[in-house]
Amino acid sequence: MIKINQKIDNPLNHKTECLILLCQEIKKPAGLVKEIDDQLQGAISAAFENKRFTGKPRQTLLLNSTGKASNILLLGIGKTEEVTAEKICQAAATAAKLLEKSKFKSVAVDLTTFESIAKGKSGLYGELAGAVAEGAGLALYHFDHYKSIDEDDDPPDRLEKLTLLTSSKARQTTVEKSIARAEKIVDAVHTARDLVSHPGNTVTPTYLAEHAKQMARKNKITCKVLGKKEMEKLGMGSLLGVAQGSDEPPALIVLEYNGAAKKKAPTVIVGKGITFDTGGISLKPGGSMDEMKMDMSGAATTLATLQLVASLKLKANVIGIVAAAENMPSGGAIKPGDILKTMSGKTIEVLNTDAEGRLVLADALTYAQRFKPKEVIDLATLTGAVIHALGHQAAAVIGNNSAMIQKLIEAGEATGERVWQLPLWEEHEKATKSSIADLKNIASPGVGAGTTMGAAFLKPFAGDQPWTHIDIAGTAWGFDRPYTDKGASGYGVRLLLSYLENSR
Ligand code: BES
Ligand code: MN
Ligand code: ZN
Repeated sequence: MIKINQKIDNPLNHKTECLILLCQEIKKPAGLVKEIDDQLQGAISAAFENKRFTGKPRQTLLLNSTGKASNILLLGIGKTEEVTAEKICQAAATAAKLLEKSKFKSVAVDLTTFESIAKGKSGLYGELAGAVAEGAGLALYHFDHYKSIDEDDDPPDRLEKLTLLTSSKARQTTVEKSIARAEKIVDAVHTARDLVSHPGNTVTPTYLAEHAKQMARKNKITCKVLGKKEMEKLGMGSLLGVAQGSDEPPALIVLEYNGAAKKKAPTVIVGKGITFDTGGISLKPGGSMDEMKMDMSGAATTLATLQLVASLKLKANVIGIVAAAENMPSGGAIKPGDILKTMSGKTIEVLNTDAEGRLVLADALTYAQRFKPKEVIDLATLTGAVIHALGHQAAAVIGNNSAMIQKLIEAGEATGERVWQLPLWEEHEKATKSSIADLKNIASPGVGAGTTMGAAFLKPFAGDQPWTHIDIAGTAWGFDRPYTDKGASGYGVRLLLSYLENSR
């Protein structure tokens, strides 16, 4: 991870490979930008005049300089009154990627611009400073666990150090705190991205359980893992049914973080942890099947969120439950038509073994009820249909409580990890009824509404307290943001942190 520190220094005298100047959308250079423009004999004002640079969000202009900084990067942050932490995060991510690609090793960013933006708004300066660190940290994620290092080859370009320049002692503590918080967020998101990026032959249900135990030990939270035997005792026939086609044993991972009074009802987060989804006997087509290593993204987000709330010492009670199994076809696998009995007592007719996520979640959601939750959130790469509906821009939210959904929408806007509500009506619930069992795991042909139908199936297991299902099949992988890449995004960690911090 890039090293981020802070220093009180005059940006005009600060020696660095590249100085990043945050620039609002303005007509012509002003303030510090104007002073640097003078040093550069009007190179910046020329760029403004011919509109090569105007300060629009995420716009960049890299210039050589003969001053203390060898280079200057102008970074647009948009109109003053429209600046938000997420916009700064995206701009910082854009700059970090550009500078890394341009082979810089150590750069600095001047934060003076935030003084005027945050004037009179308590906390905003710190938030914006944190967003710079967060954006840069998130953007410089690399997954290179499996690449041998070729001594003759050029080493990969890595931006190693970012210094946040402040002008006053008064801001120093704030910036230090913001950096520490950002580092914890980045660390958690990167943990989620790593878990998703590792292939299915590394990340098995057992691996997820071991990871959870280690993480729990480090963060002083409790972790319990239920194996096949315990699941049998509890009657988790649905989770066991999915696992029975695989040689990898399933795991139900339970993490408990108590940051508030013991008697306060917890938020329970439930994650789908299919470590590889072949589809089972209803086998998936071969093209891009490799991507189905990401089918444990809900689990990754759940584990990373617990890590984050524990490391930030959030004043809330949060439980994480991961239903981990591998969905394989074999002589022992479940078949279309099989009927499974869940922990809740309800029976399920399995009409398609590829609709396995809802099967493992059914038992995990029932298990969640023993914590008498205040609310339940499940995260799952449940349906391909959500990609048709929302692409890689937002996750779908479906639930039984509109106030809860509204808060999630707000958290999504604040963090850029957007969610969009889809409906769940009685008619959808009716379409989950089987003629020979209580439920069927896919609806009849022609019902459509694939993402909603996934949620409609889960609802009877979710309890009467507020519950929201988040379908992350389109955002966990290929999420389209300046701080992500083609693969795993770690989507949901920042969303849930924001939700948990603002919904108490
Ligand atoms: N894991 C998949 C959903 C998925 C698809 C995730 C694409 C990420 C990208 C899930 O288990 C699945 O196979 N869903 C089926 C449901 C169908 C059989 C009702 C689907 O979406 O086709
Ligand atoms: Mn599937
Ligand atoms: Zn799946």
